[in-house]
Amino acid sequence: MNAVITGITGYLPEDVLTNAELEKLVDTSDEWILSRVGISERHVLKKGQGLGTSYMGTKAVEALLVKTGTDPLEVDGLICATTTPDYYFPTAASMIAYNTGCKNALTFDLHCACAGFIYALETAANYLRTGRYKKLIVVAGDTLTSITDYTDRSTCPLFGDGCGAVLMEPSEEELGVIDALLRTDGSGMEHLYMKGGGSAYGATHETVDKHMHYIYQDGQYVFKRAVTYMAEASLEVVKRNHLAPEDIAWIVPHQANMRIIEATARRLGVEDKVLVNIRNVGNTSAGSIPLCLWQNEYRLHKGDNLILTAFGAGFVWGAVYLKWAYDGKPATT
Ligand code: UT7
Repeated sequence: MNAVITGITGYLPEDVLTNAELEKLVDTSDEWILSRVGISERHVLKKGQGLGTSYMGTKAVEALLVKTGTDPLEVDGLICATTTPDYYFPTAASMIAYNTGCKNALTFDLHCACAGFIYALETAANYLRTGRYKKLIVVAGDTLTSITDYTDRSTCPLFGDGCGAVLMEPSEEELGVIDALLRTDGSGMEHLYMKGGGSAYGATHETVDKHMHYIYQDGQYVFKRAVTYMAEASLEVVKRNHLAPEDIAWIVPHQANMRIIEATARRLGVEDKVLVNIRNVGNTSAGSIPLCLWQNEYRLHKGDNLILTAFGAGFVWGAVYLKWAYDGKPATT
């Protein structure tokens, strides 16, 4: 039994933060951000109105149910890959399921930072392979701008908000999640994390004053590991599935930095087959790969071999070999 994606949607908030606007907040320039990272603008969820990741996830899942003609009561499970749920508890998944009428679904959040989508995809695929579940939704995304320090020029240009969602169903065809290699190296913790707000350092006046509720990143260290680990994982998956570069239709890397994307593609020998949307979306963490697939859906055909690869805080990373299951149509909002 295989597990295939039978529909994909996404949601990006209306408000856009441009590089020109960032130039007014910190000592940076459009030229630096574009040449060093490849981002021109990013979407930002409105602040101060109580909107969080579940709002974007709800929009994406509502659109998915309509697009695929799915009755929400038929959905067996809804997994939300996010590191920025609305609240510590309850889960964003339970909120999204409630908002969209998925009353018969098991739900949980899966917290694997920027690798959240590929971890959730493999998890959902394994549920479907048991034969007990027939329709699962993976909704993946983050509101990273809620934990971005807009006084820190080394991180604030990088992140944006957004959510993607896929419907997954069983299939007896040789399509879907064919292979997955998922890895962890916890020694990366101190190089990419949020110092406060968790159980180690709960919120106090001091943690707020010290900007401990924002993303901390040692950019250069993370950059090197991201390139190495995404390339290694992808190469291993390609090798053990006996895929030649010409067999690969597209690689879909996590959209953190255009230079990381290009270096990963170079190592795989598929520079001309990379799906990219970083320029207008930025790094949306768990939302990155599904949003990129959604915006490029019209380029995907049944049987296309895709290599999805991601890397995030932990470190956690991996690669998924996915055989696309249908001919794509242009993305709609
Ligand atoms: O999604 C999870 C995984 N995350 C990633 O994969 C992100 C990995 N890291 C990166 O993408 C890059 O390391 C960054 C984009 C974060 C930084 O780019 P970099 O080329 O590694 O820059 P750097 O940290 O080596 O800094 C180079 C220079 C420094 O100035 P000096 O010391 O050479 O004078 C920085 O202060 O660039 C300076 N700089 C900036 N200048 C203008 C850093 N940020 C900025 C900025 N505008 N926004």
